Amino acid sequence: MVLTLPELQEKLQAWDGCALSKNANPVLGEGNPNADVMFIGEAPGQKEDELGRPFVGAAGKFLDELIESMGWKRSDVYISNVVKYRPPDNRDPTPEEKEQCMPWLMLEIALIKPKVIVPLGRHSLGHFYQKMSISNVHGTAQKLTDDITIFPIYHPAAALHNGNLRQSLIDDFAKLKEYLDESEIKP
Ligand code: URA
Repeated sequence: MVLTLPELQEKLQAWDGCALSKNANPVLGEGNPNADVMFIGEAPGQKEDELGRPFVGAAGKFLDELIESMGWKRSDVYISNVVKYRPPDNRDPTPEEKEQCMPWLMLEIALIKPKVIVPLGRHSLGHFYQKMSISNVHGTAQKLTDDITIFPIYHPAAALHNGNLRQSLIDDFAKLKEYLDESEIKP
């Protein structure tokens, strides 16, 4: 039986299967449980750790703007992360930490059943395609199964201090909107 989101949240609170959980709060995904589009980032940052919610800091604010640039709202989609706890000093998550947290992401995907998954950045892309480089495939649709398309985009945090990447994200969200419209996927 597939759990509900509140049940998943409860289970994650009680879980200690990742070493990061000793010093950080669990952050599960959030959003529309029936979303057709799911965004997956890397790991919570400081603000996310404080509030126990994904993408609520500076990168999250930019992500909200990008979603709104498509005429969609944050509440139309589901937003999550590969790793469910903040790595100390915002360092990259290790391969082991990503693997340890994997069951939660799999359960979220099974529950939401998104048609389009948008990995934000290379850590998230690596969950689906280990050999692909984000710089080659960002802004393009990759058919994973008959039911799921992966549409990789750079991580919004990487664009905060880099004007070229910022424009690339804006362009990729325009391409994502085009893809969603062509596929008749609406908010
Ligand atoms: N960066 C991420 O990858 N995830 C968040 O939730 C916030 C910042």
